[in-house]
Amino acid sequence: MKFKIAVIKGDGIGPEIVDQSIKVLNAIATKFKHEFVYTEVLMGACAIDATGVPLPDETLEVCKNSDAILFGAIGHPKYDNDPNAKVRPEQGLLKIRKELGLFANIRPVEYFPALAHLSPLKSSVIEGSDFVVIRELTGGIYFGEKGKSADGETAFDNCTYSKHEIVRITKVAFDLAMKRRKHVTLVDKANVLETSRLWREVVKEFAAGYPEVTLEMMFVDNAAMQLIQNPRRFDVVLTENMFGDILTDEASVITGSIGLLPSASTGNKVGLYEPIHGSYPQAAGKNIANPIGTILSAALMIESAFNLNEEAKAIRTAVAAAISANCLTEDLIKEGAKSTTEVGDFITQKVLEA
Ligand code: IPM
Ligand code: MN
Repeated sequence: MKFKIAVIKGDGIGPEIVDQSIKVLNAIATKFKHEFVYTEVLMGACAIDATGVPLPDETLEVCKNSDAILFGAIGHPKYDNDPNAKVRPEQGLLKIRKELGLFANIRPVEYFPALAHLSPLKSSVIEGSDFVVIRELTGGIYFGEKGKSADGETAFDNCTYSKHEIVRITKVAFDLAMKRRKHVTLVDKANVLETSRLWREVVKEFAAGYPEVTLEMMFVDNAAMQLIQNPRRFDVVLTENMFGDILTDEASVITGSIGLLPSASTGNKVGLYEPIHGSYPQAAGKNIANPIGTILSAALMIESAFNLNEEAKAIRTAVAAAISANCLTEDLIKEGAKSTTEVGDFITQKVLEA
């Protein structure tokens, strides 16, 4: 079958890691006789340099007309250290999420037994962890009204949620829970925030339609602790935009490296698939970044957007083979670490040989 993929390599290590995903996808195309047609477009700091804006109209158009979007990372330190910058790379990502209606961010946190020794957490604690964070992605404090007073003495960011926004993401979480262990943990700060109280009201009401699913409510501060103290208790974690951002970086510690985790951002139309990590500018161009999170994002993409389940499994098996063979980048092993391209080549080869 033929699929159109918009490719946004982005900034920092983005181009290097996305190139590995494309190699793996090409191996899938050869092996399973598909055709993947890639259109490369700009977003982030590279787009600001080339066009003055972080998300050019052309990028949005190409993305809208594709079957899926494969994305690397964006961000550049020159903007991070300049609070007065008028345009920022991250605005591109936020805008594409909003424009494409990508309200559901799905971040599976999987424990790799072969890597347990690399986590700073005890193996006995993380063993058997298997949960998915469902993060609301187009609302809350990220998208509320924001501003700074004329005298520069105060600033604000509003957090707003509507019932409609809560219901549609809750449905994603409960539908997923039905295919898993049927347990949803709603993470919020309902002891302080009005928006969290609305979330509780809406989610509880929604849960009545899913009698088989157990709903648990947890404050975010407690959840931050439980995630690394007792991660096995979680199955599906449902939460708002900013809590989900913070908790998924924390959860990546369970797997041993943030470089391993994929994610899918979906809505009603085309979905965007990306690793959860950032652009890691210190490593850009050095061929040392971990490509596995991006390669697993490609697996998630062909599975959920193209329905290529066997093909996605082939990618995951090849990644598992790289892990067992210690064919890993330096974030995971110090001695005998392989380069980004070596890991990409190994996984590509395994797909072809399968
Ligand atoms: C993420 C990132 C983004 C976010 C940034 C780059 C805007 O941290 O996808 O987790 O905060 O959502
Ligand atoms: Mn983040």
